Formats: sequence, structure tokens, C-alpha cells
Amino acid sequence: MVQSPFTIAVSGKGGTGKTTISSLIIRSLIDLGETPVLAVDADPNANLHEALGITVHETLGSMREEAFTRHIPPGMNRHDYVRFRFRQALVEAKGFDLVAMGRPEGSGCYCFANDLLSECIIQLERDYRYIVIDTEAGMEHISRGTIGMPDMLLIVSDPGARGLRTIARIREIATQLGLEKEKIFVVFNRFKSGTAPVGIGNDLPIAVIPEDHQVEAADLAATPVSQIPADSPARITVLNLAQKIRKYAHEKSEALQ
Ligand SMILES: Nc1ncnc2c1ncn2[C@@H]1O[C@H](COP(=O)(O)OP(=O)(O)OP(=O)(O)O)[C@@H](O)[C@H]1O
Ligand SMILES: [Mg+2]
Repeated sequence: MVQSPFTIAVSGKGGTGKTTISSLIIRSLIDLGETPVLAVDADPNANLHEALGITVHETLGSMREEAFTRHIPPGMNRHDYVRFRFRQALVEAKGFDLVAMGRPEGSGCYCFANDLLSECIIQLERDYRYIVIDTEAGMEHISRGTIGMPDMLLIVSDPGARGLRTIARIREIATQLGLEKEKIFVVFNRFKSGTAPVGIGNDLPIAVIPEDHQVEAADLAATPVSQIPADSPARITVLNLAQKIRKYAHEKSEALQ
């Protein structure tokens, strides 16, 4: 039986570390042998591929719907053509594949790119264990339903009072859209020792990722952040987070059996 993948959406305010953390989660899932992973870059300013050290040539957003209705090559049905075009956008790497949504053309709506994505995930022979979605800042994807309902929503925030307000807003939108509270988790990032994270009510953050000079060094050197040394604090913390994610994923698959 093909099991549906466990989907993790990484959200949060601009510049809080969504891409860094998404790439480190993917790296950690691979290290844990939880493969294959599908990485989805849902930010129009796609840069998840850089964090993972791969190159993207085409995005789903750049594919025009007309091409799929009018220009299907002779001898191909729509089903085959969709798969063919999706394959062109899919970058295959060790342990994971990546697809970038890019910037939508035409109507400015992601509907078509999103339809393609959902259709292709079903069609792909590869049985992804996890889908990790790096979303754009703001709640666009979640409020437009672009990424569907994830199994887990991570809200990345700096551990300050302003961060708390964003957490509350994202939480509110997500629950209004029908995502269960138990699926929403807070990740504090760039925690500097000595500053206690502000309280977030009764919920404890699922991870507190330290400020890590290796992450900064990778950024300055433009090297893939997912390749920082395995003993660097951020990577160790995210590995721990990935172990928790794995536990939730296993619980979900057991519940479905
Ligand atoms: N734990 C950390 N320690 C040190 N630097 C960090 C850490 N996490 C993120 N950064 C740095 O913070 C900056 C923003 O990170 P990142 O690009 O991952 O955020 P983002 O939320 O994806 O941003 P955007 O909203 O622009 O997509 C980067 O320069 C990154 O190197
Ligand atoms: Mg980003």
C-alpha cells in the first residue's frame, strides 16, 4: 500500500529562518534514513535549492495553463503531459527531490501550479515519506489554501514579544482554516543563550534553535546551509526536531492502519 506522505509546512515572519530550518529538517530526515523527501519551495523568491546545494531550472509557476489544454503533443494524453512537465521542474538529488512553485504567471494565481503539484504528487511513482514546504513570509499560502492542510505547521519565530504576536496571528488563521491546534508548533530560532524565551502560554516550543555562527558563516560564504558541520548547534537541535517529527509521522501512519 502506498502511504500518503507526512507534510510539514514551515511558516513564519520574513527573515526568521524558515528556509534555513526547512533545509536542515530535510538534511536531518535524510540523516535519519527517512527518505525520500520532497522539498517544496513555495516562496516566489525561491532559495531553498541554494540552502540545499542544488540548481533549479524551471518552476511550476512558470508553466502556463494554456499549454496544458492546447499544446499537448500528439500521442500524449493530458495525464502523461502533466507528468512530463512536472518531471522537468523536479530536481532529483540524493535522498530528496525539490520542486519550486516560483512566481505565478498570467492570472497571478497559484491555482494551476498548485493543481499541478497535487496532481503530480499523486502521479509520481516515488513514494515520498515526507513533504517539507518552505512557505513565503506572511500567510498567503495558508490563507489561500495553496499548500492544502499540512500534518504539521511549524511557526518559526524569534523569541521576542513581536514574534509572539506573529505566532498568535498565524495560529489564528490556521485554526480558522480548520487546522487542528495539536498540529501547530512553535520553533524559536536564533536564540542567544542568556535571553530566556518569552512564554507562549501553555505550549512549549517544539524546538529552540540557537544562534549559530556556522549558519552565518555558510550565509556569508554562500555555501549550502544544510551542509554545516554535523556537530554545529543548529544542526544538532534540528536533528532532534526531526526525531520528534518522525515520531508524529509514525503515529499518524499507525493510526491509519
Ligand atoms: N540559527 C541561526 N543562527 C544564525 N543565523 C541564522 C540562524 N537562522 C537563520 N539565520 C540567518 O538569518 C537570515 C534569514 O534566514 P532565512 O533566509 O532562513 O529566513 P527566511 O525566514 O527563510 O527568510 P525569508 O522570509 O526572506 O524567506 C539568514 O541570513 C540566515 O543565515
Ligand atoms: Mg526563505
